Amino acid sequence: MAHTVREQILIALRKRTWYSGQELAETLNISRTAIWKHMQTLKEEGYQIISNKKQGYQLVDEGDLLTPIAIEDGLTTVRFGRHILHFEELDTTQRIAHEQAQQQAQEGTLVVCDHQTNGRGQLGRTWHEAKNEGIAMSLLVRPDVPMHQAGQLTLVAGIALAQSLRTFDVPVTIKWPNDILINGRKVAGILTEMQTEADRISSVIIGIGINVHHEQFPEGIKDRATSLVRESGRTFRRAEVVAAFLNRFERLYTQWVELGFGPFVFEWETLADRLHEQVTLRTRQATASGTLLGIDETGTIRIETDAGETRFHSAELIYWEKE
Ligand code: BTN
Repeated sequence: MAHTVREQILIALRKRTWYSGQELAETLNISRTAIWKHMQTLKEEGYQIISNKKQGYQLVDEGDLLTPIAIEDGLTTVRFGRHILHFEELDTTQRIAHEQAQQQAQEGTLVVCDHQTNGRGQLGRTWHEAKNEGIAMSLLVRPDVPMHQAGQLTLVAGIALAQSLRTFDVPVTIKWPNDILINGRKVAGILTEMQTEADRISSVIIGIGINVHHEQFPEGIKDRATSLVRESGRTFRRAEVVAAFLNRFERLYTQWVELGFGPFVFEWETLADRLHEQVTLRTRQATASGTLLGIDETGTIRIETDAGETRFHSAELIYWEKE
């Protein structure tokens, strides 16, 4: 991806403690006044840059930004996150990602924003997002698999997200199919939306919302939502969390396209919340209770009910009141 002037300034500032305005201007072939203006914008964006007449500019801290350059910094991927669209404010990243899909954007295109004002959740719910507190991102993929397997992708994304969050030492678990929990409260959610053409998948948009810095939540969800900071007490850079997820997900996604979901069953069960415990789930027709046995090689949930082992393809586990 070609770098903007501001990105080139950042790349330069990272290499040395001090960089004079003159040198930067010469390297980037722009005026010193232009350099100064870009520095002001970078500061407004949240980069801590100090300057003095003798030594020039120094990048002291990069803050917690979700900018393409901050994300790219931690990427080891080939395709995922190699084309990033970043917005300060958006209604929903899903909408832009769908538009990108229609405009034939490359696989792995990522849409992120700092403030999502109308986030979409599963089952027509809304997804709460506080400005600069969380991560709202949508990833575009084009898997060459039969349409009926698309649902498994949500589970694979859930595994990748849980595994990547565990690398930050947060004890996450997965509530089937793909809610990410810490100590029984939801810290992240995944919304998968598919575009089809004739009988095949043309694209899948995987939307992920992660609560990172939130200390408080709105009334309706405050008893069942949590954030990475609240549960771990440590600090997080959102861009690092995004990069860690993309690095892991690209690997798992490639395996899934080649080998199918079978190899993921064990991993999913290792991460499962309430495995071998009593659960209740709701289908369109009824509710059922029993012991959570795990999932099968298609991603279907298995429950031991009074009638024996029963599999549910489409259902929701009931954890909280008023769902
Ligand atoms: C859920 O209900 O658990 C799924 C939540 C998914 C939220 C994410 S935030 C980024 C992307 N854009 C949206 O509007 N929704 C998803």
